[in-house]
Amino acid sequence: MLQLRSYALALLASIATLSQVNAQCANNVAVYNPDVRTLTANNTWFVVPVPKAAALTAIQEAYPLLNVALLDVPNDPTLFPNGFPAGQQPAIVNIGLSDDIRMSAFQIDGGLKVGQVYISYVSLNGSPSPLQAQTSGYIAGETGPLPNGLVPALASTLLFGGNPTRLGEFTPDAAPYQSEGGPILSAQTKWALLPNPISGPGIYPEAFDFEFTTIASSASRYTAKGFKYLINLPTLLPTAQCQRNAYYFTNATANPVFRNGNVTFGPGADGSSATSSALMAASADGSGIFADVDGYGGCAQSVGNSVQGCDEASAHTDPNTLN
Ligand SMILES: *[C@@H]1O[C@H](CO)[C@@H](O)[C@H](O)[C@H]1NC(C)=O
Ligand SMILES: *[C@@H]1O[C@H](CO)[C@@H](O)[C@H](O)[C@H]1NC(C)=O
Ligand SMILES: *[C@@H]1O[C@H](CO)[C@@H](O)[C@H](O)[C@H]1NC(C)=O
Repeated sequence: MLQLRSYALALLASIATLSQVNAQCANNVAVYNPDVRTLTANNTWFVVPVPKAAALTAIQEAYPLLNVALLDVPNDPTLFPNGFPAGQQPAIVNIGLSDDIRMSAFQIDGGLKVGQVYISYVSLNGSPSPLQAQTSGYIAGETGPLPNGLVPALASTLLFGGNPTRLGEFTPDAAPYQSEGGPILSAQTKWALLPNPISGPGIYPEAFDFEFTTIASSASRYTAKGFKYLINLPTLLPTAQCQRNAYYFTNATANPVFRNGNVTFGPGADGSSATSSALMAASADGSGIFADVDGYGGCAQSVGNSVQGCDEASAHTDPNTLN
């Protein structure tokens, strides 16, 4: 009897927890992946062509101990129907809301705002396996502070396979993006360098901002498969290993859409300076604005696979991530 009662209480508690989950697509992959971190990511991703020299500087700053280089973007019309601009490397930048986060060892109540910049087609130790390398990553709770005593160092280990993450400040703070009136949407990520809720505001250098609209797939420079391929490249970790952080768009709740707009890189896009960054300086006028870039958005199911060697990770990318 007592056992039954505690079972019922546990069940009620789990229902109460589930009902707190945001109005975002529910996690349909946790059931198949009980031992690793799963979540749903209502994200917007932009592909920003950046000059190769700046891309290389940004990844060398992020992985000072590793032998990283840039691979050329292959001529693959199934990904890039018009090719990719010569002399440029794709930076993939995303802002979104991660929710329904499940982990075997650690559960998080509520969602987390997440934003990252990656350089894609990165090579480790001369290998031809294309990887993505993070130049910066930010995280925040939906009301600012991180829930459950989570701190960036712990989030880095639990959520991102050990890639460094910084405390961010997002607008909006509890949704993936917001309306700017008419068809225009926006999302912003700042670097919460010295947040100090008691004595006043800290320093918040800009990291990356989006202003965008929805476009037809036919107006996009990249195919849906192209975006999915870039989003799902194995992520290089500071340990010289890789994580396949898989994003699936196959569930009916994904609702993927194509976007076009302006991405601004600020001092927090790469490096460790609060006033400048290589990607910011690489824009045409040095202000960090990259206008008329294409993006993709949707509510993806994400599986943070166990860390493995980078060539092995590259050989085992799940083909379902491209569907
Ligand atoms: C993703 O977020 C946007 C903005 O808040 C919302 O309108 C949309 O319904 C969300 N999509 C899903 C599938 O949860
Ligand atoms: C992007 O910037 C250009 C100016 O360079 C502006 O005309 C355009 O409206 C902006 N697009 C969006 C979606 O804000
Ligand atoms: C959601 O997507 C995952 C990964 O592709 C798949 O295993 C699962 O069957 C899908 N669930 C539903 C309800 O479509």
